[in-house]
Amino acid sequence: MEYYNHYPLQDYTTFGVVAYTRKFYRFDTQKELKQWLEKESDKHPKKLVLGGGSNLLFTGDFDGTVLFPAFKGIELLEDNKDTVLVDISAGENWDDCVAWCVERGLGGIENLSYIPGNAGAAAVQNIGAYGVELADVVDRVEGFLLDSGEVFSMDVNECMYDYRYSIFKGPLQNNVVITNLVLRLSKKPKYLLDYGQVKEAVEKRGPANLKNIRNAIIDIRKSKLPDPNELGNGGSFFKNPIVEKPLFETLKQNYPDAVGYPHAQNRFKVAAGWLIEKAGWKGKCIGNAGVHDKQALVLINKGGATGKEIADLACEIQSDVLEKFGIKLDPEVNIL
Ligand code: EPU
Repeated sequence: MEYYNHYPLQDYTTFGVVAYTRKFYRFDTQKELKQWLEKESDKHPKKLVLGGGSNLLFTGDFDGTVLFPAFKGIELLEDNKDTVLVDISAGENWDDCVAWCVERGLGGIENLSYIPGNAGAAAVQNIGAYGVELADVVDRVEGFLLDSGEVFSMDVNECMYDYRYSIFKGPLQNNVVITNLVLRLSKKPKYLLDYGQVKEAVEKRGPANLKNIRNAIIDIRKSKLPDPNELGNGGSFFKNPIVEKPLFETLKQNYPDAVGYPHAQNRFKVAAGWLIEKAGWKGKCIGNAGVHDKQALVLINKGGATGKEIADLACEIQSDVLEKFGIKLDPEVNIL
């Protein structure tokens, strides 16, 4: 375990904005974390669990204690005829996990290639891309409750997964440290190639197989999404809004090129990137905060932006989209 006071978080979030936390604890084993929760936790009323920091924007310093679970490990738990169970420690880099599974011919998360962040955060956020969500392959999620220090193990139904949502973002928000997730993956995977240009990109590489799908997805992401190591960003800044049918029909009447897809309960998921681009924001910036010129849903730190500048830009976009289309955008990024 490592412990620091007044610790810089700039390198711990992909936005790369300057912010300090009052206290910072890094845990390299679950045992260290368990002991800390038993002995120290009560002395730290305000806690924040940090994953890969790919979905977090600090608008100022954090006056509390950051817990950083850094435990690693990927392990085959169960090997059945058609499926396997893979146990992944929360501190593993998500994309390394995808690579590990693809190399072993285990299918289910190849479409989730090249998403920044750690495995623990992936389970909180229910990461999704190209027709797949993490929830599709989760068997269970395990960890500690912060208030009681108790261990939990929740199966996929208990996790309350929905679009970019889970119990860990809802009733248990700020009250869990995820230690590991168990995924059920397939030895005879069904390939999902229907989203956008995926099929075309895979065909360019050859036959549809896990490696070609993974590499095609990496190509697509690289062509649209900025590399956080070069340009600070948190992926999609907003969720794609889910609206009632009449609102979507009005949008389509006014803008026949509006992009949206049918969602559950007769509702529609509208492409927030389209709304933001149509409102004229693509490629624009205010100070050092900007809207990515290849994907309007991504806000970027053009260099030296403060978290507040980025959050202010997001607010401007929200009000403008609301005024122009009557649709409210909710951030996907956690703004602190
Ligand atoms: N679009 C525009 N202009 C833009 C961006 C998008 O018109 O500037 C329209 C296009 O018509 C495009 C459609 O929006 O066809 C959808 O765009 P894209 O395929 O890029 O996906 P997205 O809906 O913008 C979502 C996820 C991404 C994920 C992609 C691919 C959310 C909030 N975002 O983005 O996830 O990679 O689908 O599946 O659901 C993330 O969460 O950080 C993230 C990057």
